[in-house]
Amino acid sequence: VHLTINSENGNATSGMLFGLMYEDINFSGDGGLYAELIRNRALQGPNPDLTAWHSEGASVTLNVDKSEPLSDALPNVLRVDVSSAASGKVGFSNEGYWGIPVNTDQYKASFYVKGDYTGDVELSLRSAIDGTVFSTKTVSVRANGQWKKYTTRFTPGKASPNANNTFTIMFDAEKVRGKSLYFNLISLFPKTWSNSGTNGLRVDLAEAIDEIGGKFLRFPGGNNLEGQSPPYWWKWNETLGDLIDRPAYPGPWGYVNTLGLGLIEYMRWTDLMGLEPLLAVYAGLYLDGTFITEEDLAPYVQSALDELEFLTGSVDTHWGSYRASLGYPEPWVIRHVEIGNEDNLWGGLPSYQNYRFNMFNDAIKAKYPDMTIIASTPEITGTPAGTWLDFHLYDKPDHLTTLFGQFDNWDRQHPVLVGELAVIAPNEPNKPEVEWTPGALRLAYPSMIGAVAESIFFMGCERNADLVQGIAYAPGFQNLNSYQWVPDLISFTADPADTTLSISYYLQKLFAQNVGDNTVAVETSEDFRPLFWSATYSQKHREYYVKMANYNGTSTDISVHIPALRNGKATWTTLSAPDGHSYNSPRNVTSKWTETEIPKSGDSWTVTLDNLMIGVLKIQK
Ligand code: AHR
Repeated sequence: VHLTINSENGNATSGMLFGLMYEDINFSGDGGLYAELIRNRALQGPNPDLTAWHSEGASVTLNVDKSEPLSDALPNVLRVDVSSAASGKVGFSNEGYWGIPVNTDQYKASFYVKGDYTGDVELSLRSAIDGTVFSTKTVSVRANGQWKKYTTRFTPGKASPNANNTFTIMFDAEKVRGKSLYFNLISLFPKTWSNSGTNGLRVDLAEAIDEIGGKFLRFPGGNNLEGQSPPYWWKWNETLGDLIDRPAYPGPWGYVNTLGLGLIEYMRWTDLMGLEPLLAVYAGLYLDGTFITEEDLAPYVQSALDELEFLTGSVDTHWGSYRASLGYPEPWVIRHVEIGNEDNLWGGLPSYQNYRFNMFNDAIKAKYPDMTIIASTPEITGTPAGTWLDFHLYDKPDHLTTLFGQFDNWDRQHPVLVGELAVIAPNEPNKPEVEWTPGALRLAYPSMIGAVAESIFFMGCERNADLVQGIAYAPGFQNLNSYQWVPDLISFTADPADTTLSISYYLQKLFAQNVGDNTVAVETSEDFRPLFWSATYSQKHREYYVKMANYNGTSTDISVHIPALRNGKATWTTLSAPDGHSYNSPRNVTSKWTETEIPKSGDSWTVTLDNLMIGVLKIQK
């Protein structure tokens, strides 16, 4: 196969073609990227319970108490009853999000306590298997009838070989015999990623995301934006400020969000990784199909305007000054706002089409004319020219490859965001498209053939870069101990040694790091299939990137000729695996990433593309 890369006739790319979609699903925020190690730290939610908490010593009983609220947002507290016969050290422990990793970096612990106790409180990290103590820190406490916060830092002297550990809080039983102590907002943070701070991100997961090199972050959902049913949705204003003021959000994925990963934490994430924020605002649709009527929608529109003022307003504005009071005087820049999430689903389309989209769009555009508005579905007509349409797709490999030309003939008035895309099921003859019936076949982890199909769809998008502004895989993360959706880009447990970067992850990385600012035409006498390709050129880096994939073909030599280039350094990077079903799983990476320098032979560079291989030939001028 001969490909001639033309240096002209291309379309400008958006500069953010490959990005990330993130929402708290699969315990990926709480229990994942949000670095807090204590599960159920404030007994949050409409049905608080003692999940993850255990008494230490037979003379201690734990209870959920509602009579001593810590704050309006955190009304449930942990009451520790100590029997009148108690002696020695007693207390309680937390098992974390299915474990707590112990390493020799510094940890920060804090808790609130109330009750009649003056004495030592001993915090320790210990093995749940054999009780080995990895670290102990004593805090001198003078508790009384008022809630009091204690904060301490400690560095374990030795690391634990696994994450099967607990965080234990012990105190002197004789000082509280026959009485109770109250605790709440018990928190333990390890060292966090980069400078993401005391309420920051888990190191290995944030590093993995950062290393993709994506250009945007679409957040905070996904379904997690919308909530399952009234009155719950991701209320941005409840995610701000001190953790003591953040109430529970019973998210739609079956667990309570602590809201520790709040709006400011998201913005800091985008800042630190240099990502363009694609902010989704709630648009009045719940996943149970309830939607806000036209008469009642105005406060929700106002909330979105307030959110934008909070983020972008000067300190002279009401919400801008509130932001400043939280330590962020400098406004953020928001260029893209998505109105809702998948508002075509759950019966939401008629109201979205009739008034919900327009009410949000008109209000935001009136105040922020330069902001790009994204409709949360392509299934809407009559949106103003320039409105982006968000296209989501969960598919099977064979079918996805048939959508290579999906955007070739789209209406150019409406740019497209592929806000969520993934191969989620294996090919099955006679059933080309994904079935959503419960129990339908799903992949446990992204497969090699799935990644090849995704790469083909992405190349189809890249070829239409005048239209397609951004592409993101979804969902991003999966806690292997409790999840609602497979497959996922990155899987993990509490133990960083389990962190698994899927084959689709490597595809994202390969493509995100090899994209130019202009597409360039590829001339050839061959038709697409089984081989697919697309090419871009970066003026800034003076580099060409020729992406290729082989979907069920034979191993093929491909020669690439660039008339505008006499010489150049060519690097051939490939992603492959033993076969199409191959996948990466904890501690078992089957995919292979290779990088080879290719000498020029004659007037071209020749590479070999095996079956089910994805490759990028980068040629530096
Ligand atoms: O990515 C998982 C879910 O799929 C998202 O929350 C939702 O937008 C889509 O239906």
